[in-house]
Formats: sequence, structure tokens, C-alpha cells
Amino acid sequence: MTMLDGQRALVTGAARGLGLAMSERFAAEGARVLIQDLDLAEAEKSAAALRAKGRDALAMGGSVTSESDMRACFARLDREWGGLDILVNNAGVSANKSALDLPLVDWSRVMDVNLNAPFMWAKEAGKRFVAQKSGNLVNICSIWGIDAAPDRIAYCVSKAALIQMTKCLANEWAGSNVRVNGIAPGYTETKMLREVIDAGRVDVQSLHRRTPMGRLGTPEEIADMALYIVSPGASFLTGQVIAVDGGWTAYGFY
Ligand SMILES: NC(=O)c1ccc[n+]([C@@H]2O[C@H](COP(=O)([O-])OP(=O)(O)OC[C@H]3O[C@@H](n4cnc5c(N)ncnc54)[C@H](O)[C@@H]3O)[C@@H](O)[C@H]2O)c1
Repeated sequence: MTMLDGQRALVTGAARGLGLAMSERFAAEGARVLIQDLDLAEAEKSAAALRAKGRDALAMGGSVTSESDMRACFARLDREWGGLDILVNNAGVSANKSALDLPLVDWSRVMDVNLNAPFMWAKEAGKRFVAQKSGNLVNICSIWGIDAAPDRIAYCVSKAALIQMTKCLANEWAGSNVRVNGIAPGYTETKMLREVIDAGRVDVQSLHRRTPMGRLGTPEEIADMALYIVSPGASFLTGQVIAVDGGWTAYGFY
């Protein structure tokens, strides 16, 4: 028996990065996984790679901000797997500009993807979870929803609100045995972050210095926490947002 035998999971923004690492981890523990992403071709490739390992995986394209794309995704889940047990709201975007330079349209795009979409997907999953009296929602937040930083105000505000949404939904659904938790990753070495570092746009040495553990996180470390959160071992855990950040948010010294 693996930990997630028979569970049906949907991870948004999962063609690559943290979403893919969580999908792979869930699948390795026996879950069926639907990989949702804006980039359908990449999502298909990632799902095919899981199927090649003998896992059960589907791919769906579309934006998390589109209600019709979301409905198509849930319709497929209902049709093929008869419902859902785990939703990970993972898709997220940033806009790295100072507040005075940030057009409202960029602010709204970040809010749409990082906050409004997770609410819309949570509601659709929550209806099913509450009716079946079981389910796990995991919201991927950020250390920037806990600490504040210059030049990423929309990202920080959206993730802070997502942390509060996690607690609100946990309160509403706890009585139906539905757990709602979040992960606040610190800087995690995805392919994307590596490209930004290699292009010289992020100084990796200063990230290492600022992190008590002296290094970046790995996608697998985020996936391990996601697996723990949705596992039976965490059956009394709800309303929590766990920072997986090498000590970043615990550090207040100079
Ligand atoms: N990597 C980090 O260091 C880090 C740190 C803290 C929080 N996070 C959060 O983790 C999550 C995943 O980050 P990542 O680093 O893996 O990002 P990433 O950019 O590598 O991957 C994000 C995926 O989301 C997809 N996506 C983007 N917009 C979408 C949309 N509108 N609809 C559907 N899919 C969409 C992209 O195509 C991509 O495949 C995000 O919410 C991010 O804010 C990441």
C-alpha cells in the first residue's frame, strides 16, 4: 500500500516547477493526478512521462483564471475518475515593479491568477469535498505573503491574502472533514529560478546569505511537505500555512 492509493489529485500550473514535483510525488504514492497548465503541450508531456512510469495521469490546458477552462477540467475529472480528493492551487505569477511603476492592469493580472483563481477553484473542489465529507485543499503561498519586499507589491499582497483565504476556508469546511492548508516556500531552485540566476537577475549568493540554512530549497522538499499535508498522518492539520524556507521567515536578526 502506498500513502495516496485511490486518491484523485488535481494540481494547477503543474507542467513544470513545483507543481510538477508535487504531481510526481503524489503519483509515486499511488494517486491519480491531473496536470493542469496554461501550456497544454508541456502538461501533456509531463503527464505522458508519468504514464510511462506506470502512473495514472491526465493533462488539461487552459488558464486558471477562466471559468470555462476550470469547468472543463472538473467535468473531465467527474467523467473519468468520478470526482476529486486533492486540489493544489499552485499556478502563480509575479510582477516585479515598484508600486509607483506598476500599472493597475499588472496588479489585476497577479490578483486574478494568485488569488481570484484559487478562490474559484477552491469553491468548485470544496462543493465536492463537503458533499463527500473528505478532501484536501493545498494553497501554494510564499514567504512573500509573510514578509514584505520592495518591487513585488502585487505578489506579496496576493500571497498574504491567499494565506488568509486558507485559514477562512479551513474554518468553514473543518466540520465536513475537509482540510485546508498552505505551503509558503522560500526560494526554491526550479528551472525558472535557475534561468533568472544564470541571467544575473537574481544574486544567488545573497539569497544563500539571507537563508539561515545557507542554500535554496529544492522542488522535492516542497513536494515532500505537500505529501505530508494530504497524507493520513496529517489528519488533524487544518488552517495552517507551513513555511518551507530554510529558516527565512524565522530570521529577524541583522
Ligand atoms: N519557485 C520558488 O522559489 C517559489 C517560491 C515561493 C512560492 N512559489 C510559488 O509556487 C508556485 C509555483 O511556482 P514555480 O516556481 O513552480 O513557477 P513556474 O513559473 O516554474 O511554474 C508555474 C507554472 O504555472 C503555469 N501557469 C502560469 N500562469 C497560469 C495560468 N494562468 N493558468 C494555468 N497555469 C499557469 C505556467 O505555465 C507554469 O508551468 C507559484 O504559486 C509561486 O508563486 C514559488
